[in-house]
Amino acid sequence: MPPVSHETPLILPSLLAADWSRVGDEVRRAEAAGARWLHLDVMDGAFVDNISFGPQMVGVVRQCTSMFLDVHLMIHRPDHYLERFLKAGADNITIHVEARYDTSVEATLRRIREAGIQCGIALHPDTPFDAALPYADMIDLLLVMTVVPGFGGQPFMEKETMPKLAAARAHRDAHGLKYHLEVDGGIYAHTAPIAKKHGANLFVCGTSFFGPAEASAAMSELTSAVA
Ligand code: DX5
Ligand code: ZN
Repeated sequence: MPPVSHETPLILPSLLAADWSRVGDEVRRAEAAGARWLHLDVMDGAFVDNISFGPQMVGVVRQCTSMFLDVHLMIHRPDHYLERFLKAGADNITIHVEARYDTSVEATLRRIREAGIQCGIALHPDTPFDAALPYADMIDLLLVMTVVPGFGGQPFMEKETMPKLAAARAHRDAHGLKYHLEVDGGIYAHTAPIAKKHGANLFVCGTSFFGPAEASAAMSELTSAVA
């Protein structure tokens, strides 16, 4: 998979909104519609108030596709569980600064890098950009959550999160850094351009991608919204 520049806009279907009774078909449907990266939301029922899936599902998806697997860990102790996600075939692992660690955020990012894959930091809507500053030169991706993590189908929190996204872009550009800016939650054809204007290039789309019956139509609508 060739590397993607932080200037390239990409639509990332989020598996959370797919039909899990036929998960392999859903993954292939996303790929056939033109998706290059797939977003996988891991939730532990402790860091967030919901439980989704773990490394086993990431491994199953890995068997079905060669898309880049963008794994978003909404869990405490991501360092403890890390090796299982590496082994499952993740291509990027994003961890939350607000989570509890046995070691530290920094040690966890270093370990992900050593494993030869990409790493990201995620920020809850209440967490200021400053919390990511110590890691800004270690990451491939900064995920600015645009809803409270835990559930799909929530409204886009524009005024709470767009100033932070703009600050993250300004910091990156002022320091010659390269991280992608990803938005996750409430992204539709009418909200994605707002996030793009504030600096996002990776757009996670759950309901807006897997909701409509026609995946290719959903993909082309979302892609034109951020072109
Ligand atoms: C929310 C998840 C999202 C979710 C987005 O906690 O991190 O990735 O799938 O879903 P939509 O696009 O429906 O808001
Ligand atoms: Zn996510």
